[in-house]
Amino acid sequence: MTAQEQRIAIIGRNGAGKSSLIQMITGLTPPSAGRILLDGIDPSTDRRAALSLVGVLFQNPDHQIIFPTVEEELGFGLRQQGGAPDDIKAAIDNILSQFGLCDWLKRPIAQLSHGQKQLLCLLSVLLMKPKLLVLDEPFSGLDMAMRLRLQAILAQLPQMIIHITHDTDSISHYDRVLWLRGGRIKMDGNPQQVLPTFHAAMQTEASDAFLDQPA
Ligand SMILES: Nc1ncnc2c1ncn2[C@@H]1O[C@H](COP(=O)(O)OP(=O)(O)OP(=O)(O)O)[C@@H](O)[C@H]1O
Ligand SMILES: [Mg+2]
Repeated sequence: MTAQEQRIAIIGRNGAGKSSLIQMITGLTPPSAGRILLDGIDPSTDRRAALSLVGVLFQNPDHQIIFPTVEEELGFGLRQQGGAPDDIKAAIDNILSQFGLCDWLKRPIAQLSHGQKQLLCLLSVLLMKPKLLVLDEPFSGLDMAMRLRLQAILAQLPQMIIHITHDTDSISHYDRVLWLRGGRIKMDGNPQQVLPTFHAAMQTEASDAFLDQPA
């Protein structure tokens, strides 16, 4: 299959293979069959080139954060991209003020809550302006105000976004929804096609013997 829509959602129950797919898109895990190409680049053989195209927010921020302070963490990707120190400083100040977080600059990351770490990882990814953004449950730890702000910011971004979520309301306006089940695509279409069937299936599985259902 190919995907070129601007807004693509991936849904499915716990263990359906959503995060595993991200691992393959970023070249962390090679596919056992088939091949993934991002703009012609195979991430399992050319991970560096793939990562220059793709910005990923992993499900667990603790797997993503490297540095002890917010300022260092936010600047890392931009330094890797060869940005000038003054430009990096300005970009960091700008994104923190966009989120009302100017007092975060010097904060030790160890003192941030889980949701705050998740937000920090997302800001780091946004700063790098990747061509493709892959977000694994970006709203899961965020409070309602942050989530609304983030949703508004994501809506304005020109890049292609692949968004994994359990919150189907947040993707009802997307161009395409992939429903994964047991590591395979159960349904692929627009939200009007996929979401009603998905909701009905979840109702059925919640009501009886759901533990016997495949993920
Ligand atoms: N490193 C691994 N080694 C072996 N199996 C794994 C590994 N990581 C995940 N799995 C298995 O692969 C399946 C899919 O996991 P995955 O993390 O992709 O699910 P998910 O759809 O992201 O679920 P969730 O909604 O809970 O985040 C699960 O059965 C999981 O136990
Ligand atoms: Mg997952």
